Amino acid sequence: MTDKRQRLFLNAFLMNTTSHIQHGQWRRPDARQSDFTDLDLWTGLAQTLERATFDAMFFADVSGLYGDTDADYSVYVREGLQIPSNDPVVLLGALAATTRHIGLAATSNVFQQHPMNFARQLSTLDHLSRGRIAWNIVTGTQGNGYRNFGHEDLADHDERYRWADEYVDVTYKLWEGSWDEGALLKDRERGLHADPSKVHKIYHRGERYRVEGPFLPAPSPQRTPVLFQAGSSRAGRDFAARNAEAVFLVASTPELAREQIAETRALAVSYGRRPEDITFFQGLSFVIGDNPKDAQAKADYYDEYVSTDGYAAHAAIVDLDGRVYPTDTPLREVRTNTARGFIEWLARDIVDREPTVGDFSLRWARGSRVVGTPSQIADEITRWQDAGVDGLNVINWVLPGSFEEFADLLLPELRDRGLAQSEYAEGTLRRKLFGYDRLNDRHPAARYRGAFTHGPRSWAEAEAAAKQTAAAGVV
Ligand SMILES: Cc1cc2nc3c(=O)[nH]c(=O)nc-3n(C[C@H](O)[C@H](O)[C@H](O)COP(=O)(O)O)c2cc1C
Repeated sequence: MTDKRQRLFLNAFLMNTTSHIQHGQWRRPDARQSDFTDLDLWTGLAQTLERATFDAMFFADVSGLYGDTDADYSVYVREGLQIPSNDPVVLLGALAATTRHIGLAATSNVFQQHPMNFARQLSTLDHLSRGRIAWNIVTGTQGNGYRNFGHEDLADHDERYRWADEYVDVTYKLWEGSWDEGALLKDRERGLHADPSKVHKIYHRGERYRVEGPFLPAPSPQRTPVLFQAGSSRAGRDFAARNAEAVFLVASTPELAREQIAETRALAVSYGRRPEDITFFQGLSFVIGDNPKDAQAKADYYDEYVSTDGYAAHAAIVDLDGRVYPTDTPLREVRTNTARGFIEWLARDIVDREPTVGDFSLRWARGSRVVGTPSQIADEITRWQDAGVDGLNVINWVLPGSFEEFADLLLPELRDRGLAQSEYAEGTLRRKLFGYDRLNDRHPAARYRGAFTHGPRSWAEAEAAAKQTAAAGVV
C-alpha cells in the first residue's frame, strides 16, 4: 500500500470543432468529434466528466486560420483543422444549464471582443453556473484572426501582451471595482433594488479603450472568473506571473516542467504573489491497455490515423501556395512567420540528425502521449506531479471515447493512489481549486476593490486625477 498523494486537478481539454489537437483521428469509426454542432455530444460528455469528477471542461478557441496570412488555406478546410469551429462562450451557456459541479472554461482572445461586452458575458455565465466559469486569456498567433477584426496583421509579440495588460485591467475594474459589496439589496419594503452609493463608474481611459461604467451585471459568485493562461515566451510568462491562477504547460519532460514552474513562481513572488497562487497543468494524452502489449497495439492503431499534414499545418508549416512541406523537408528550410519558436522548441531534442517536417509531426503527435496499463500511466503521472505539476490537461483522441476510457480504465487507479478526487467539494470553481470564492488580495485585480467608492464623478475629474497621479510619479 503506497502513501496517498495530493490529488491532481483534472481538466478536459476540448474545442468546439472537429480537429483540435490530434489531427486525423476524427476519421476513426468510434470518433464523434465531427458532430460538434450536436449539443447531445457535449451534454453527454459533460455527464461522463462529472461522473469522473473532472474539475473543468476547458475549451480552446481561435479567431482565424493558422498559417501565414496570404497563404492558401485549403489544408485547414480539408482537415477540419479548427474550421469549422463554433463559439465556446455560447456553448458554455448550454453546459451551465445541464451540469452541476464541473468548471466551465472558455478561451477568448483579447482583440476579439470589447472588454465591456466580454466581461458582461462571463459575469452572466458565472451567475447562471453559480460560479463555475474560467477564462483562458490568449493574445493569439494568427494573423488572419487579427485581419478578421479590422487590423492590418498580427500585432508585434510584446505589443500583444501590452494590449492584454490593458484589456484585463478594464475587466478587473468592472468585475472587482464597479460594484461594492452589499450594493444589491432587492429590498421590496423600501423599493430599493440596489444602493446607488455603492455602484460606480470606472472612467477607464487607456491606449486602446475608453470605458465609463458602471458595469451592468451585479457581482457574480466569483466576480472575476478563474484566470487561465498559456503563454510560454518571456512576455507570456511575465503576464502569467502577474495575472494567472492556472498556467498550461506542454513541457516535453517533467524536468522542463519543473524549470518552467520554478521560473514562473519566482516571477510571481517578485510581483507580490505567493508561489501557490499559481497552479500548473501539464497537457497529456493517454493510450490505456490491459497489458503493455495491448496498449502498444492500440497506440499503433491510433498512429494509422495520424494526419502528418494536419500536425504540420497546425504549426503553419505550409508554403505560400498552401502546400504542406513534404515530410522529408529539413525543418531549417521551412519558411514560416508565425511558428518559428514552436518548431525550434519541438525539434530541439533531435540532435543526432537533421530534423525534418515528418519528425516534427510525429514528435508532436506522440509528444504528449502516455501509453501503458493504468498502473504504468499512473507511475508516469506521479513523475509529473513530483516535478511540481498540480493538474493535468487531458488531451483527447476521440470524443467522447477518450474520456470514457479515462473514467472507466484509468481513474480507479488514480483514485486508489489518491491522485484523483472521488467527489466534488461544494462551491465555486475557485473554491474547489483554491479554497476561496474571490481572487485573493495579492492579485493585481484586488486593488480595484473599493477604489471607485470615492472616485471621480466625471471624465474631467478622472483626467485631472490621472494627471495628478502621473505628476506624483505613480504608475
Ligand atoms: C495548453 C495550451 C492551450 C492553448 N490554447 C490556446 C487557444 O485556445 N487559443 C489560442 O489562440 N492560443 C492558445 N494557446 C497559445 C497560447 O495562449 C499562446 O498564445 C502561445 O503559447 C504563444 O504565447 P507566447 O507568445 O507567450 O509564447 C494555447 C497554448 C497552450 C500551451
